[in-house]
Amino acid sequence: MATTEIAGLTSLLENLGLSAPVPTYPEAQILENPLDIGRSYLAEILRSLVGVEDGIAYKAITWPNNIYNGDFSVPLPKLSHEKTPKDLASEITSKYKAASNSDMFIIPIPDGVHLRFIFMLKFLPRFLLPYIKDRGLAYGTDHLAGLRDRSNPDLGKKKVVIEFSSPNIESEFQGKNLRSTIIGSFLSRLHQAMGWDVVRLNYLGDWGKNIALLMVGWGKFGSEDAFKADPVGHMLSVWTQIHDLFQPAVVESKKLRDSGGDPAAVESQGLFAERNAIFKKMEDGDPETLVLWKRFRDASMENYKSLYSRLGTEFEEYSAESCFSPDTMAEVEAILRENNLSEESEGSLIVDMEKLTGRRGGGKIMIRDRNNSQTYALRELANILDRQRQHDFDKMIYVVADDHDTHFSRIFKLLELMGRVELSKKLVYVHFSRVSKMAEKFEKSLKMHKILDRCTDEMIKAVEASPDKAVVIGKADSTLSSVAISGLLAQELVARRAAAHSFDAAKMTAFARSSGPEIQYWYMRLDQILHETPPPSNPTALTDEELEIVVEEGSPETNLLRLLAEYPEITAAAYKSLESPGIVHYVDEVLNQLGKCFEMDEPEGGDDEEPEIFSAGQLAVYDATRQVLGNAMRILGITPVEF
Ligand code: ARG
Repeated sequence: MATTEIAGLTSLLENLGLSAPVPTYPEAQILENPLDIGRSYLAEILRSLVGVEDGIAYKAITWPNNIYNGDFSVPLPKLSHEKTPKDLASEITSKYKAASNSDMFIIPIPDGVHLRFIFMLKFLPRFLLPYIKDRGLAYGTDHLAGLRDRSNPDLGKKKVVIEFSSPNIESEFQGKNLRSTIIGSFLSRLHQAMGWDVVRLNYLGDWGKNIALLMVGWGKFGSEDAFKADPVGHMLSVWTQIHDLFQPAVVESKKLRDSGGDPAAVESQGLFAERNAIFKKMEDGDPETLVLWKRFRDASMENYKSLYSRLGTEFEEYSAESCFSPDTMAEVEAILRENNLSEESEGSLIVDMEKLTGRRGGGKIMIRDRNNSQTYALRELANILDRQRQHDFDKMIYVVADDHDTHFSRIFKLLELMGRVELSKKLVYVHFSRVSKMAEKFEKSLKMHKILDRCTDEMIKAVEASPDKAVVIGKADSTLSSVAISGLLAQELVARRAAAHSFDAAKMTAFARSSGPEIQYWYMRLDQILHETPPPSNPTALTDEELEIVVEEGSPETNLLRLLAEYPEITAAAYKSLESPGIVHYVDEVLNQLGKCFEMDEPEGGDDEEPEIFSAGQLAVYDATRQVLGNAMRILGITPVEF
């Protein structure tokens, strides 16, 4: 029976000489996390040796997050305040062997106030290899985590709407949209892995005054022929020109505003006036204006969709700023009015957050401008109400650059003031540093597709320069472009969200620690080895002899197994923090140990022709490693290239 069922798991553990059933602790997810099985037995051992109350021992067990510090560590003061750590350590170590189930760990090692526990090397492969094999793709996921009630699946899954990517149509994909796409896809997969019902939503920036400005630009610099030849490229060039032309007026109006003056005069003439007039036409539904708008929107949409397929990103829903509902906007305005939140100010409708919250620097939210045009904030509020009605979500995550910090904190606060406290609590703004410096690395206004082409070119050069990698990776175009995309993804995901990392084509295509190409290379190499020498199909049938190398003290295979046992812990931590670097660094650690396995097997004299011979036990470990590596890559969005 498979270990994915309690009965199968229990019988495996019994066969390994442990008592059944596994001691129960409410925090332990023994079907999802193998370390929780270790914790449960260890807690029981500690309880029997030290006589602490139920629950205390389990909670005292910490996870060092680094195999060199043991598989578990117990800070002794957490077990008892009466005895000194030294006395407690010697009491536990001296009585240890006599405790039941103590065969799971070697005799604990005192280390200051800590006691370190390491799995018995003989136990590890016999337990972990079937555990991983039985779970396959599900290893490292926890489908019960996203249930409304873990113990009652009938109550259903929780639902999360994740808004990400959300590029604008006037300015093509920018570094921040790329970063949002990569982080958002990762968070979507992470939530799916944790059993949530996930709606991936793209909120296209296709409405508002910038689009109107683009249309003003079209009147001045647009060319039908150029648009036909390269719609998005031409739009981008028109946008860049009109944007530059408009800047002096923007600066002047801001200067006036900052110095307490009235920018009305500046804003009622020149490009400001032209832009506002076009926006008014858009709002009034002027057919001619909307035909042009739709052409821009369609061209842009087509471009983005092909970009997403290149990046391996999908959405359940394409929403857009233009998809607002006038009724909901009226509803928002009514709520604001009824609650005395909005007021007239110099001809526009605003919410004075500073006044309402009493917080200095709270600022003002513009709801309708001087021309009575709806604003970004009004669309946002209406959207939240609409999305809640449409999806009835438990959580909505916005994966948006930190240029929206103020926007979202004000909007969430305003929702509370509007009496939608519960709804506001469901909204999460997952922000990240917008400084990717992508544009500076290549020519300005280079389109995203071209950037991806450049990455592939760099990738080809990098592979050519490393013959040992080239042997494994090969020359196929599709492989090289996948490996290049992996480079891009890994580079974005290795940095914490708040880090102002920079985009670096040379670095991301290099074979170096934590780089995408390096990860793919190792996956392909493993896959190739296992293809040539298939691993045993049933790891429980391995003989002691076959496992000999694997259970050798300090062998890289042993360390590899200890790392593989940690994987569900790593995904759980990522789920808590909504950060990806933990997973990338984990993959890096796995590759590091894997490298050591192969180093030791390199035949002396470096004769490359000699085929490597692996024991069935080693192959079973590599098979489990391929599974875990592949699972980690997939959750990051890096599709493993199979041999
Ligand atoms: N289109 C915006 C940008 O590129 C991001 C959209 C953020 N999402 C939202 N619901 N306001 O900066």
